Amino acid sequence: MDTSALSRRCTVVVGCQWGDEGKGKVVDVLAADVDVIARYQGGANAGHTVHAGDQHFVLHQVPSGILHPDKRCLLGNGVVVDLAQFFGELDQLVERGLDPRGRIGLSTRAHVVFPYHQALDLAAEAAAKRKIGTTGRGIGPAYEAKTGRRGVRVADLLDRRRGAERVGRGIAWARGRLVDLGADPGLAGTVDEAMAVAARVPEVATDVGAEIARALAAGKRVLLEGAQGTALDVDHGTYPYVTSSNTTAGAAAVGAGIGPTAIDSVVGIVKAYTTRVGNGPLPTEFDAGMDEKVRELGGEFGATTGRPRRCGWFDAVVVAYAARVNGLTGIAVTKLDVLDTLPEVRIATGYRLPGGGDTPFPPTSWELERVEPVYETLPGWQTPTTGVRTLSGLPRNARVYLERIEKLVDTPIAMVSVGTRRSQVIRTA
Ligand code: GDP
Ligand code: IMO
Ligand code: MG
Repeated sequence: MDTSALSRRCTVVVGCQWGDEGKGKVVDVLAADVDVIARYQGGANAGHTVHAGDQHFVLHQVPSGILHPDKRCLLGNGVVVDLAQFFGELDQLVERGLDPRGRIGLSTRAHVVFPYHQALDLAAEAAAKRKIGTTGRGIGPAYEAKTGRRGVRVADLLDRRRGAERVGRGIAWARGRLVDLGADPGLAGTVDEAMAVAARVPEVATDVGAEIARALAAGKRVLLEGAQGTALDVDHGTYPYVTSSNTTAGAAAVGAGIGPTAIDSVVGIVKAYTTRVGNGPLPTEFDAGMDEKVRELGGEFGATTGRPRRCGWFDAVVVAYAARVNGLTGIAVTKLDVLDTLPEVRIATGYRLPGGGDTPFPPTSWELERVEPVYETLPGWQTPTTGVRTLSGLPRNARVYLERIEKLVDTPIAMVSVGTRRSQVIRTA
């Protein structure tokens, strides 16, 4: 164990599997010691769960540092923001006694997700023969509009006339596409409906990159919070069963609006087993009985869509790949406690091809569908870990399991999480 990755000036927190690794929990814990927390990509497809005291929050757009009353929380230019969802989330936080006003900022360069993007997302999924299983939040169409240079940015909405003009063009484009998909073009909605949320934008609009640069220059500490996970990255993930953004640490600089040299630590969040929600390959997926058991033990239901998550054994091939593409300086292993009752635990240490021979993490989904994981079986610990606060206090077999992960991933463990609460972390040997 080596906790030094947790105490640097500018740290990226990145998911190392298929999302839902517990990024929200870890960011909330680490946020206590930093000044600024910024999301750098993704949108309301994310669902980050944070438990603080008796309260439980699922954050989709707002950074997971918001529960700490004195932290500045930012949404960078790489984020796609559904303004109705975003302001709704802020209002809910106010209702629940937290006041995020005045300490939340949204990049003027971030692209906006409108109801017509959501209509396109749902229509594309309905029409597709091979469905991705998206969250239906309009993420793909919003990023397509961005790279297609048809997008509408937060700054555009600060000028109502220009904003409405760009939204009008977006709706016209969406109507045509909806017709092509066999859907009702009326689903694209109207300019007035889309512009309804624009009035609140001046409350939050800011230059996020400039703010982060100023904070770092003043000696403050910054956390860059990733959404989704490495295997869902549009370049490095299981394409086409991925999200539409770069989720990996390299995107943190671009999406927060700072230079890569400002980042000095990358903490990978790694669930002690594997889950995936949506379609696409999952080499270590359990059989039906075990799937149900671990889903129950881990409460593995989507925080955004409520869909049951598919579960499987720890896949060291995926996480070692994530260590490389993210340049991890440390890992935080979460949900170790979920495995507490199992008589044995397995780790996939490699992949075998159907005709024999080993393969690294392949570039295509169809190849990944065909691989056979090579498993190592370790004895379980069958002792509760939820009350343990030091590495040496863990049952011996749990330590052996963690050491094996550390070795296979070739990255030091910086933290272990053994429950949903803030206090349920191990940060000392
Ligand atoms: P994220 O998207 O990476 O932030 O993860 P989610 O919030 O979607 O899913 C993680 C789930 O696991 C949430 O319900 C968390 O409250 C929960 N969780 C996080 N860490 C732990 C842990 O160490 N043990 C247990 N039992 N649950 C955890
Ligand atoms: P957090 O940040 C898990 C998955 C969807 C689908 C694919 C594409 O909570 O870890 P999209 O709506 O992004 O176009 O869907 O990506 N997906 C996630 N899975 N956690 C997430 O976020 C996810 N965000 C998207 O299920 O398979
Ligand atoms: Mg989640």
